[in-house]
Amino acid sequence: MSGVTELGYVRLGVSDLAKWRDFAGRLVGLEVGADSTDDVVYLRADAWHHRLILERDASDDILAAGLRVAGPGEFRALQDTLRAAGVAFEVADAETAGRRCVLEMLSLSDPAGNPLEIFHGPRVDTHRPFYPGRGMFGKFVTGNGGLGHMMLRHGDLGEMHAFYTLLGMRGSIEYKVPVTPEFTVEILFMHCNQRDHSLAFGLPSQRRVNHIMFEVSELDDVFLAFALLRDAGYEIAILPGKHANDQMFSFYCISPSGFQVEIGWGGRPASHQSEYYVGDTYGHEFTAGRPA
Ligand SMILES: [Fe+2]
Repeated sequence: MSGVTELGYVRLGVSDLAKWRDFAGRLVGLEVGADSTDDVVYLRADAWHHRLILERDASDDILAAGLRVAGPGEFRALQDTLRAAGVAFEVADAETAGRRCVLEMLSLSDPAGNPLEIFHGPRVDTHRPFYPGRGMFGKFVTGNGGLGHMMLRHGDLGEMHAFYTLLGMRGSIEYKVPVTPEFTVEILFMHCNQRDHSLAFGLPSQRRVNHIMFEVSELDDVFLAFALLRDAGYEIAILPGKHANDQMFSFYCISPSGFQVEIGWGGRPASHQSEYYVGDTYGHEFTAGRPA
């Protein structure tokens, strides 16, 4: 198992840290880490030191997706694989790895220019049990499935598939959705553990990130987040519905940075076999363009 084992953390550059703290903590239920500062906010979803790092930055976009490998041996083996394939990367110094709270990491870009950090050895604070930012009926579903999933900006989908296969992930096109008689949207999903997918590519995005998904263990937490976010004035971009591939019941709202955050429940494990769908199971209506 020398490849990527999970989407471990995400670094986000956000212009309004105060708004993000409230959005992520009071409304979504993530925990604001105790050692957060005025310029860096750590958000927890489980016992890890953090699952999101918010950094004061005007980009309102991801600064890096942190992909985990199992340990030092796998970290070196993946470097050999990248070198042999002619993929450029830079091994971070100890200070940078220390700032990310990991033992070792390297940085590189995927074929679409998405910044990645491959790491092993995250800091896990078992002495600080997860304490949600607001009351929750259950908890965030992380564990070996990582923090959730992300849809990122893509280039040629075949090229994206080849690159992430090199990193040890598996996947295929899982949606072919006819938009017009001449145009069908194809969406590629890649997995590396029991979560149906950790990364997806295919929808157009002005930013590097289209959306980040967090899964919760109780359906009530989906609807509580929906109610709190809507009452706080956040736009719901996609109404509740059920995806065909991971069978996740979810909705999407627009985060303070403009990209979307999906809150989901009930995702099924990866089937490890390819199949595709022409639409979702039900719901998930896009609100853009709906009559008010
Ligand atoms: Fe999603």
